[in-house]
Amino acid sequence: MSETVSLKQLTDELDQLETKAVKDISEALDEQALEHLRISLLGKKGRLSRILGSMGGLKSSDRPVIGQRANVLKNQLQDLLTNKLKRLKNKALDELLSKEKIDVTMPPSGIPFGHRHPLISTTDQIIDLFCGLGYEVKEGPEIENDFYNFEALNIPPDHPARDMQDTFYLGDNLLLRTHTSPVQIRCLEKNPPPVRIVAPGRVFRRDAVDATHSPVFHQVEVLAIDEGLDFSHLRGTVMAFLKSFFGDLPVRFRASYFPFTEPSAEVDVQWRGRWLEVMGCGMVDPAVLEELGIDSERWTGFAAGLGVERFCMVRHGIDDIRKLYTSDLRFLEQF
Ligand code: DAH
Repeated sequence: MSETVSLKQLTDELDQLETKAVKDISEALDEQALEHLRISLLGKKGRLSRILGSMGGLKSSDRPVIGQRANVLKNQLQDLLTNKLKRLKNKALDELLSKEKIDVTMPPSGIPFGHRHPLISTTDQIIDLFCGLGYEVKEGPEIENDFYNFEALNIPPDHPARDMQDTFYLGDNLLLRTHTSPVQIRCLEKNPPPVRIVAPGRVFRRDAVDATHSPVFHQVEVLAIDEGLDFSHLRGTVMAFLKSFFGDLPVRFRASYFPFTEPSAEVDVQWRGRWLEVMGCGMVDPAVLEELGIDSERWTGFAAGLGVERFCMVRHGIDDIRKLYTSDLRFLEQF
């Protein structure tokens, strides 16, 4: 049995429901809140259903009045909910669009390109300068045998000069080349003079690592064989090259000794108040040429071995050779 209710009571309830629902719908912040509201207002167990459920307690003549009023309210609330949902959806879309906005007129941030390692660019600069003087680039193997690395360069097995270069031996007469000079021999074996070559490459020595030494480093070998070459050509070539590379740094030639050149010299440049050796050089020893079947009465020449790391360090003001091998991008990006 339904309790008795008056028309006024239900009308008031519907009025209150309307006022509160209109306010709540307009204040709903998002789709989820709106859906909760819809269920609590119009759902099967919602507030409108509850009011309609109590219509049984009305006088029968009052029922259509309330029924009609409830229907109008239901439609009104449905419209309000639909409109509000549309607005919330539009608002969410606008927010998304403004968050993901792309300004196609913005300048691009740029693609980070890598660039060449300072040792490679230094090698290239050295090679370029010699190529400008008519030299050709040649390369030789990093794994050498005793003949090319030592014997053909006038360094027999018991020669004390072998102590100058601590060698990584690989067994079976193989070793990691200790200098680029074996490329001289490989080149002369195949090409009769005149020759003018530069040979860049890695070389290996059993040196302990410190600020100026590394067990792997880089050299550029220079060789010129022709008729009538003498020490003045060597000196002129080296001076012209150093001036192009370093500008006006002071240079000095020091008498030295290498088994495959006679006379021999080392070349220093003055850097940060000290003399720094940057290459060994000399006139190719006639014995080296004769061993290769080249007439040393007719052909003479000069050779040099340049330490690429030294050139790179002086050029860029780098004080520690180890920085060149650590692959630290903060360092490398400066060049
Ligand atoms: N090969 C020598 C070294 O690594 C450097 C050198 C000296 C090369 C004199 C030469 C030269 O071509 O003529 O210590």
